[in-house]
Amino acid sequence: MKLFIDSGDVDEIREAQSMGAIDGVTTNPSLLAKAGRPTKDVITEICEIVDGPVSAEVIATDTQGILREGRELAKLHPNVVVKVPLIKDGLKAVRTFTDEGIKTNVTLCFSAPQALMAAKAGATYISPFVGRIDDIGGDGMELIGQICTIYDNYDLETEVLTASIRHPQHFLQAALIGSHVATVPFNVIVQLLQHPLTDKGLAKFLEDAKKIPQG
Ligand code: E4P
Repeated sequence: MKLFIDSGDVDEIREAQSMGAIDGVTTNPSLLAKAGRPTKDVITEICEIVDGPVSAEVIATDTQGILREGRELAKLHPNVVVKVPLIKDGLKAVRTFTDEGIKTNVTLCFSAPQALMAAKAGATYISPFVGRIDDIGGDGMELIGQICTIYDNYDLETEVLTASIRHPQHFLQAALIGSHVATVPFNVIVQLLQHPLTDKGLAKFLEDAKKIPQG
């Protein structure tokens, strides 16, 4: 499973990248608002840090506006993936982007029929938001399973990008189900490394190392 970082913060993206496990980046308008800099500047800088797909989201909600904004974003760097909301005008734009060779990430997916429609429009990635489904009492991981099954049934090429991950269990379940990608916030990436027995074991090794006679 590929690991993307879900962030608009270049410092944490640089830190995660230095850990050697980052395959790409996703952003959204809320994350970029926190960055407090123009979207194009941040996306260009992220593309210089991570050599992999970098999703940048359009703000327009009509097909022509989405196409205009998406083409501008795609010009920033060959690794830019245009992130488009899962609405009718969005899918129309996705079909055109696909025909033009521009990669897309269809975002705000909350159902399997939505995911099937995005794949039919030629989406490169589909982003189901598991955490937000859990937040309203649903089962986000069940949706990931449904989408993976449907895509497998029909050999659809769209990659399942599990999004809105809130904790390591989401990441684990996504990998067990066979999601192609998980996009994970920096704090959860750090949690993926942590285990109390690792800390306890390391402390004991370091303590015992002091008893080794010096040669
Ligand atoms: C995905 O691309 C989104 O940016 C993100 O995962 C949404 O996460 P949230 O529900 O924690 O805002």
